[in-house]
Amino acid sequence: MKFKAGEVQYITNKSLMPIKIVKNDTDVSAGKNKWVYSQSVKSHFFHPENLVEDIKKFDESKYDGVGVVGSPACGDMMKLWIKVDQKNDRIKDCKWQTFGCASAIASTSILSVMVTEKGGMKIDKALKLKPQDILARLGGLPPRKVHCSVLGDKALRKAINDYFRRSKQFKRIVTEGTTVIDPDTKITDKDIEEAVLEGADNIEKLQQKLKVGIVDKSVKAKAEALMKKFIEKYYG
Ligand code: FES
Repeated sequence: MKFKAGEVQYITNKSLMPIKIVKNDTDVSAGKNKWVYSQSVKSHFFHPENLVEDIKKFDESKYDGVGVVGSPACGDMMKLWIKVDQKNDRIKDCKWQTFGCASAIASTSILSVMVTEKGGMKIDKALKLKPQDILARLGGLPPRKVHCSVLGDKALRKAINDYFRRSKQFKRIVTEGTTVIDPDTKITDKDIEEAVLEGADNIEKLQQKLKVGIVDKSVKAKAEALMKKFIEKYYG
Protein backbone atom coordinates (compact mmCIF):
# COMPACT_ATOMS: atom_id res chain seq x y z
CA MET A 1 0.00 0.00 0.00
CA LYS A 2 1.37 3.44 -0.91
CA PHE A 3 0.45 6.91 0.23
CA LYS A 4 0.88 10.12 -1.72
CA ALA A 5 3.16 12.83 -0.35
CA GLY A 6 1.48 15.06 2.20
CA GLU A 7 -1.41 12.71 2.74
CA VAL A 8 -2.73 12.16 6.25
CA GLN A 9 -5.11 9.36 7.08
CA TYR A 10 -6.76 8.39 10.33
CA ILE A 11 -7.10 4.76 11.29
CA THR A 12 -9.81 5.67 13.75
CA ASN A 13 -11.84 8.78 14.33
CA LYS A 14 -12.98 7.51 17.70
CA SER A 15 -9.70 7.99 19.53
CA LEU A 16 -8.85 11.12 21.44
CA MET A 17 -5.38 10.66 20.06
CA PRO A 18 -5.97 9.62 16.45
CA ILE A 19 -3.25 7.94 14.50
CA LYS A 20 -1.87 9.55 11.42
CA ILE A 21 -0.15 8.01 8.47
CA VAL A 22 2.33 10.49 7.15
CA LYS A 23 2.94 10.42 3.48
CA ASN A 24 5.90 8.70 2.04
CA ASP A 25 6.23 6.94 5.34
CA THR A 26 5.64 3.42 4.23
CA ASP A 27 6.32 0.89 1.55
CA VAL A 28 8.85 2.74 -0.49
CA SER A 29 11.40 1.18 -2.80
CA ALA A 30 14.95 0.37 -1.87
CA GLY A 31 17.71 2.51 -3.28
CA LYS A 32 19.69 5.66 -2.76
CA ASN A 33 17.81 8.30 -0.76
CA LYS A 34 14.81 5.99 -0.44
CA TRP A 35 13.43 4.35 2.65
CA VAL A 36 12.70 0.69 3.14
CA TYR A 37 10.38 -0.81 5.75
CA SER A 38 10.60 -4.42 6.86
CA GLN A 39 7.66 -6.81 6.58
CA SER A 40 7.38 -6.74 10.35
CA VAL A 41 7.09 -2.93 10.39
CA LYS A 42 4.37 -3.04 7.74
CA SER A 43 2.55 -5.82 9.49
CA HIS A 44 2.52 -4.04 12.89
CA PHE A 45 1.60 -0.75 11.27
CA PHE A 46 -1.39 -2.15 9.41
CA HIS A 47 -2.43 -4.45 12.25
CA PRO A 48 -1.20 -2.83 15.48
CA GLU A 49 -1.33 -4.97 18.61
CA ASN A 50 -2.67 -3.67 21.93
CA LEU A 51 -3.76 -0.34 20.46
CA VAL A 52 -6.50 1.55 22.34
CA GLU A 53 -8.85 2.36 19.50
CA ASP A 54 -11.60 4.03 21.47
CA ILE A 55 -10.47 5.85 24.59
CA LYS A 56 -14.10 6.33 25.66
CA LYS A 57 -14.45 2.57 26.04
CA PHE A 58 -11.08 2.14 27.70
CA ASP A 59 -11.03 1.90 31.51
CA GLU A 60 -7.75 3.50 32.57
CA SER A 61 -8.53 2.81 36.23
CA LYS A 62 -7.82 -0.90 35.65
CA TYR A 63 -4.19 -0.12 34.85
CA ASP A 64 -1.34 0.21 37.35
CA GLY A 65 0.80 2.78 35.56
CA VAL A 66 0.66 5.26 32.70
CA GLY A 67 3.38 7.09 30.80
CA VAL A 68 2.99 10.01 28.41
CA VAL A 69 5.88 11.34 26.35
CA GLY A 70 6.40 13.75 23.49
CA SER A 71 9.13 13.54 20.88
CA PRO A 72 11.53 16.51 20.80
CA ALA A 73 12.42 15.45 17.26
CA CYS A 74 8.96 15.72 15.72
CA GLY A 75 6.45 16.86 18.39
CA ASP A 76 4.44 13.62 18.24
CA MET A 77 3.08 11.98 21.38
CA MET A 78 2.74 8.56 22.94
CA LYS A 79 0.59 7.36 25.86
CA LEU A 80 1.08 3.87 27.25
CA TRP A 81 -0.59 1.96 30.09
CA ILE A 82 0.64 -1.14 31.95
CA LYS A 83 -0.95 -3.69 34.23
CA VAL A 84 1.43 -5.46 36.58
CA ASP A 85 1.29 -8.89 38.16
CA GLN A 86 2.64 -7.65 41.50
CA LYS A 87 3.29 -11.11 42.89
CA ASN A 88 5.61 -12.07 40.06
CA ASP A 89 6.75 -8.53 39.22
CA ARG A 90 5.79 -9.03 35.58
CA ILE A 91 3.94 -6.85 33.06
CA LYS A 92 0.71 -8.65 32.26
CA ASP A 93 -0.92 -6.08 29.96
CA CYS A 94 0.26 -3.11 27.91
CA LYS A 95 -1.96 -0.77 25.90
CA TRP A 96 -1.09 2.42 24.01
CA GLN A 97 -2.21 5.31 21.82
CA THR A 98 -0.17 7.70 19.73
CA PHE A 99 -0.16 10.73 17.50
CA GLY A 100 3.06 9.32 16.05
CA CYS A 101 3.80 8.11 12.56
CA ALA A 102 3.79 4.62 11.04
CA SER A 103 7.22 3.87 12.52
CA ALA A 104 6.07 4.87 16.01
CA ILE A 105 2.95 2.72 15.63
CA ALA A 106 4.92 -0.34 14.48
CA SER A 107 7.61 0.14 17.16
CA THR A 108 5.14 0.48 20.01
CA SER A 109 3.02 -2.38 18.73
CA ILE A 110 6.01 -4.76 18.79
CA LEU A 111 7.13 -3.33 22.14
CA SER A 112 3.72 -4.07 23.65
CA VAL A 113 4.04 -7.66 22.39
CA MET A 114 7.59 -8.03 23.73
CA VAL A 115 6.67 -6.97 27.28
CA THR A 116 3.53 -9.12 27.52
CA GLU A 117 4.49 -12.34 25.69
CA LYS A 118 5.48 -15.57 27.50
CA GLY A 119 3.76 -14.66 30.74
CA GLY A 120 4.95 -11.06 30.77
CA MET A 121 8.37 -9.48 31.03
CA LYS A 122 9.95 -8.91 34.45
CA ILE A 123 9.81 -5.23 35.39
CA ASP A 124 13.60 -4.98 35.84
CA LYS A 125 14.16 -6.44 32.38
CA ALA A 126 11.57 -4.08 30.84
CA LEU A 127 13.42 -1.13 32.38
CA LYS A 128 16.54 -2.17 30.52
CA LEU A 129 14.85 -2.39 27.11
CA LYS A 130 16.51 -0.15 24.55
CA PRO A 131 15.30 1.14 21.17
CA GLN A 132 17.89 -1.22 19.64
CA ASP A 133 16.00 -4.21 21.10
CA ILE A 134 12.80 -2.97 19.48
CA LEU A 135 14.57 -2.34 16.18
CA ALA A 136 16.05 -5.84 16.24
CA ARG A 137 12.57 -7.39 16.54
CA LEU A 138 11.20 -5.08 13.85
CA GLY A 139 13.97 -5.80 11.37
CA GLY A 140 15.18 -2.20 11.58
CA LEU A 141 13.84 1.21 10.58
CA PRO A 142 15.14 3.83 8.16
CA PRO A 143 17.78 5.94 9.99
CA ARG A 144 15.62 9.06 9.99
CA LYS A 145 12.85 7.11 11.70
CA VAL A 146 14.85 5.61 14.55
CA HIS A 147 13.77 8.45 16.89
CA CYS A 148 10.16 7.22 16.51
CA SER A 149 11.05 3.93 18.21
CA VAL A 150 12.23 5.87 21.26
CA LEU A 151 8.72 7.12 22.03
CA GLY A 152 7.28 3.79 23.14
CA ASP A 153 10.40 2.86 25.02
CA LYS A 154 10.37 6.16 26.98
CA ALA A 155 6.62 5.92 27.65
CA LEU A 156 7.13 2.40 29.00
CA ARG A 157 9.76 3.58 31.50
CA LYS A 158 7.48 6.42 32.59
CA ALA A 159 4.58 4.00 33.05
CA ILE A 160 6.79 1.71 35.15
CA ASN A 161 7.92 4.67 37.30
CA ASP A 162 4.27 5.65 37.69
CA TYR A 163 3.51 2.09 38.83
CA PHE A 164 6.38 2.30 41.36
CA ARG A 165 4.96 5.56 42.74
CA ARG A 166 1.40 4.26 42.97
CA SER A 167 2.59 1.09 44.71
CA LYS A 168 4.95 3.10 46.96
CA GLN A 169 8.08 1.35 45.66
CA PHE A 170 9.91 4.66 45.61
CA LYS A 171 13.40 3.16 45.80
CA ARG A 172 12.88 1.45 42.45
CA ILE A 173 12.08 4.67 40.55
CA VAL A 174 14.62 5.42 37.85
CA THR A 175 15.21 9.13 37.15
CA GLU A 176 16.66 10.37 33.89
CA GLY A 177 19.02 13.35 33.97
CA THR A 178 16.92 15.97 35.76
CA THR A 179 16.92 17.73 39.13
CA VAL A 180 15.34 15.70 41.91
CA ILE A 181 12.81 17.84 43.82
CA ASP A 182 11.55 15.17 46.21
CA PRO A 183 14.24 12.60 47.17
CA ASP A 184 11.68 10.26 48.79
CA THR A 185 9.41 9.89 45.77
CA LYS A 186 12.17 10.77 43.27
CA ILE A 187 10.01 13.42 41.63
CA THR A 188 12.05 15.63 39.31
CA ASP A 189 11.50 19.10 37.87
CA LYS A 190 10.68 17.35 34.57
CA ASP A 191 7.90 15.32 36.24
CA ILE A 192 6.38 18.53 37.60
CA GLU A 193 6.64 20.23 34.21
CA GLU A 194 4.88 17.32 32.53
CA ALA A 195 2.18 17.19 35.22
CA VAL A 196 1.44 20.89 34.57
CA LEU A 197 1.21 20.19 30.84
CA GLU A 198 -1.20 17.36 31.65
CA GLY A 199 -3.48 19.70 33.63
CA ALA A 200 -2.14 19.99 37.20
CA ASP A 201 -2.95 23.60 38.13
CA ASN A 202 -2.95 23.38 41.93
CA ILE A 203 -0.96 21.50 44.56
CA GLU A 204 -3.77 19.00 45.24
CA LYS A 205 -3.84 17.91 41.61
CA LEU A 206 -0.05 17.81 41.52
CA GLN A 207 0.06 15.56 44.58
CA GLN A 208 -2.69 13.38 43.18
CA LYS A 209 -0.63 12.83 40.04
CA LEU A 210 2.85 12.60 41.52
CA LYS A 211 2.58 11.92 45.28
CA VAL A 212 5.16 14.68 45.68
CA GLY A 213 5.76 15.72 49.32
CA ILE A 214 3.74 12.87 50.82
CA VAL A 215 6.72 11.58 52.82
CA ASP A 216 8.64 14.80 53.51
CA LYS A 217 6.01 17.54 53.79
CA SER A 218 8.64 20.28 53.55
CA VAL A 219 9.08 19.45 49.85
CA LYS A 220 5.51 20.52 49.12
CA ALA A 221 6.26 24.28 49.03
CA LYS A 222 9.22 23.77 46.69
CA ALA A 223 7.11 21.62 44.37
CA GLU A 224 4.26 24.14 44.43
CA ALA A 225 6.62 27.02 43.58
CA LEU A 226 8.02 25.08 40.65
CA MET A 227 4.52 24.13 39.50
CA LYS A 228 3.55 27.83 39.48
CA LYS A 229 6.66 28.65 37.48
CA PHE A 230 5.68 26.14 34.82
CA ILE A 231 2.05 27.35 34.84
CA GLU A 232 3.34 30.87 34.25
CA LYS A 233 5.68 29.64 31.54
CA TYR A 234 3.04 27.72 29.58
CA TYR A 235 -0.24 29.45 30.37
CA GLY A 236 0.83 33.01 31.35
FE1 FES B 1 7.02 11.62 14.95
FE2 FES B 1 7.70 9.28 13.84
S1 FES B 1 7.90 11.25 12.96
S2 FES B 1 6.87 9.63 15.79
